[in-house]
Amino acid sequence: MSRIQIFDTTLRDGEQSPGVNLNRLEKLEIAKQLERFGVDRMEAGFPASSKGDFEAVKMIADTVKGTSVTALARSVKSDIDTAWEALKGADEPCLHVFIATSPIHMKYKLQMTPGEVVEQAVEMVRYASSKFSQVQWSAEDASRSELPFLGEIIEKVIDAGATVINLPDTVGYATPLEYGNMFKYVRENVPNVDQAILSCHCHDDLGLAAANSIAAVENGAGQIEGTINGIGERAGNASLEELAVAFHIRSDQYPFTTNIKLNETKRTSDLVSKLTGMHIQANKAIVGKNAFAHESGIHQDGVLKHAETYEIITPELVGVTANNLFLGKHSGRHAFNDKVKAMGYDLTDDKLKEAFKNFKLLTDRKKEVTDDDLFTILTEVQTDAAVVEKYEIETLQVQYGTNSIPTATVVLRTPDKQVLQEACTGNGSVEALYATLDKLIVERLELVDYQITSVGRGKDALAQSHVQLLVNDEQMNGRGSAQDVIEASANAFINAVNRYVIQQSTNKNES
Ligand code: KIV
Ligand code: ZN
Repeated sequence: MSRIQIFDTTLRDGEQSPGVNLNRLEKLEIAKQLERFGVDRMEAGFPASSKGDFEAVKMIADTVKGTSVTALARSVKSDIDTAWEALKGADEPCLHVFIATSPIHMKYKLQMTPGEVVEQAVEMVRYASSKFSQVQWSAEDASRSELPFLGEIIEKVIDAGATVINLPDTVGYATPLEYGNMFKYVRENVPNVDQAILSCHCHDDLGLAAANSIAAVENGAGQIEGTINGIGERAGNASLEELAVAFHIRSDQYPFTTNIKLNETKRTSDLVSKLTGMHIQANKAIVGKNAFAHESGIHQDGVLKHAETYEIITPELVGVTANNLFLGKHSGRHAFNDKVKAMGYDLTDDKLKEAFKNFKLLTDRKKEVTDDDLFTILTEVQTDAAVVEKYEIETLQVQYGTNSIPTATVVLRTPDKQVLQEACTGNGSVEALYATLDKLIVERLELVDYQITSVGRGKDALAQSHVQLLVNDEQMNGRGSAQDVIEASANAFINAVNRYVIQQSTNKNES
């Protein structure tokens, strides 16, 4: 069995998904969970891209100690310097520097000759190696690059100090055979290849990201890059949870092991979905809601007689358990605090008090509070980074009847502390509610997407809503949960607007 390194890029390539805008605390929360999940490296961001990204990478590098923290840089000295400033507090800081190597990228995007690309790549790897003990070099669009050129540049960057060579299928174009052959070629034709680890990085435009990653490790790659739930640019990246489970379940075919703690899969996936607002399709492999559901009578009958007739993965393997019943109306602060600790949360006293208050409010309306509910409450409290004034709903009322026009009335506190009231009608309750909020909020708003789901199952399950809004033309994702679907919808809408308000206020403070 050979040990494959898992490189997670949820916080960098994953965060490049449209509408995803995580705050610093949300990124840190995901980073801590990635550490629990057992990834070997995490790419925390692209520090030169914004002050916010720089701060987030720094916070993660200073906090996460069990996993190597990496950050991205273009092939320019200032990006490498900025990345060093963000990463220097990490235990094992690693730089990820890239330049495109395909004819189309070199000619049209970089407007450089192949010779100039080699020169710049070598110079920047050498410069990066003077600061970082580990330097990963990526040949962007490697899968559409000419193999002899790829071989030549790889040999030179290894000589210049690169410790990892990453060969991305940037546009998700390669087939497994082609992608595997590229690794084979590099292994057989680059004389110093043994001095570096080869890494694969696949995008899913043709739905081949997982298959291509497997082809790469079968041909000598020692590292796989990907994201949780497969989020990322366009169709996303390879799903790490799919690969880790495939290696485990089909170890008869795949002689590869990883350090991934498979029973942390569900929690990691839930956290990323909740915080990014990227809903997981029900039939998604491993982490979709239906991944373990057997609908047809023949399948159910088979599973009851002998589980393995239709079940190749047990839900328990990936941490899907029947909802544990948690605490109820009469549970005290002590029991609550113990449970929070047992779930791996480390909250400040203030946040713990706030979480307990929200838990008590929930028990007024819900008899049994499950682990899923608690996870929702704790994540929301833990990642609320707002230290600035923002919008807050004081009261809301929605009237709906089959024979009447839906009407919403909202009392809203604005960031400048005015208390305003409005009422609007709509074709449905949510439309009436959103029209009212739109009227009360000064920012220009356009609703792009709206989703409502339940947290867990059962008639008193919490409602969870995700919205995508254009706020003054900037795309913002918002999420909100509540026992009532209308309240959850209102919370998600306000959350998206508040993210914009917080972002504006942070930008103002920075300039
Ligand atoms: O897909 C890609 O080529 C990338 C590089 C920056 C590594 O994400
Ligand atoms: Zn990528």
